[in-house]
Amino acid sequence: MSILVTGGNGFIGSHTCVELAEAGYDFIIMDNCSNSDEKNIEVIQKIIGKNFKFYNADMRDFNGVDGIFKENTIDSVIHFAGLKAVGESVEKPLEYYENNVSGTINVLKAMNKNSCKNIIFSSSATVYGLNNKVPFEETMPLSAINPYGQSKIMIEKILTDLCKADLEWSAVILRYFNPIGAHESGLLGENPKGIPNNLIPYINHVALGDLPYLNIFGNDYDTPDGTGVRDYIHVVDLAKGHIKAMDYGFKHKGAEVFNLGSGKGTSVFEIVKAYEKASGKKIKYKIIGRRAGDVGMCYADIRKAEKVLDWHAKYDIEKMCRDSWNFIKKQHGN
Ligand code: WQD
Repeated sequence: MSILVTGGNGFIGSHTCVELAEAGYDFIIMDNCSNSDEKNIEVIQKIIGKNFKFYNADMRDFNGVDGIFKENTIDSVIHFAGLKAVGESVEKPLEYYENNVSGTINVLKAMNKNSCKNIIFSSSATVYGLNNKVPFEETMPLSAINPYGQSKIMIEKILTDLCKADLEWSAVILRYFNPIGAHESGLLGENPKGIPNNLIPYINHVALGDLPYLNIFGNDYDTPDGTGVRDYIHVVDLAKGHIKAMDYGFKHKGAEVFNLGSGKGTSVFEIVKAYEKASGKKIKYKIIGRRAGDVGMCYADIRKAEKVLDWHAKYDIEKMCRDSWNFIKKQHGN
């Protein structure tokens, strides 16, 4: 079985490739490396101990994507490629819709043309919007307040319509909660370019000493300690969820949606404490105002993934913080 992994050089994609190899699948990576370092390809090869094909290609180029299908026999696609910075999506909506939506349509058209009708898609908990009550269930109404979230809702809809129109299609839509952590080797992890937007990448740099303190976005939420609560999930657990989802997709036609989270809520203060314990570093912080578009609480109802995919997250917050710290330390030669 050969799997095409779009965006396979990124944070979740690279960890999923490692798990694919572990589960005995062959894979090919297609990535334009717009938000990742091409050196990751060698890192993945080092971890799994074998080579694979890598195409530095952009999904907005239909002929490029089609060419990959022509040159290879592909049984399924795990589709991670896309832009993912919420704030940037508000400033550059056309880039987000062109990359995420038009790019995905190109991938789907190339798949159709080459008779590959099996896809696993990276969606996000952001599609639950601001009005649902936790825990978020797959059947809840969807909404988004920024182009990034809208693009995920649109693609979910496109996949659902495609599966209705052609009964040979299978689409497994995975709504990720907050992936953190890193590969145990410390060789793969998340280290975005520029000043990080997300909590753990930011804390990583406070721990390293390159940022003076963490800004905590609000301590007046209706949560146990007033700071925002999220459902953090170890990226390796999340990656394993893709293998389960793919195995499910091979056996079932149609579109199906699953939450991938831990099912537990953790506050910003709890993360800071766990990270301090894991790293032995003091994480200084300042409380500032709420960040626009943030909800107080976000965590998953994970019963469907547990029951149907026989999957659940096994790593706890301590392990997530330990692996994040181990990775960032290694990257900076500490
Ligand atoms: C977590 C908590 C913040 C940074 C986002 C996207 C989502 C998905 C994942 C995907 C919140 C608080 C954060 C900081 C803070 N995107 N925080 N200071 O917002 O839950 O989800 O990333 O690709 O679509 O919206 O994650 O890590 O930014 O925030 O206090 O400097 O940490 O308010 O409570 P979020 P996050």
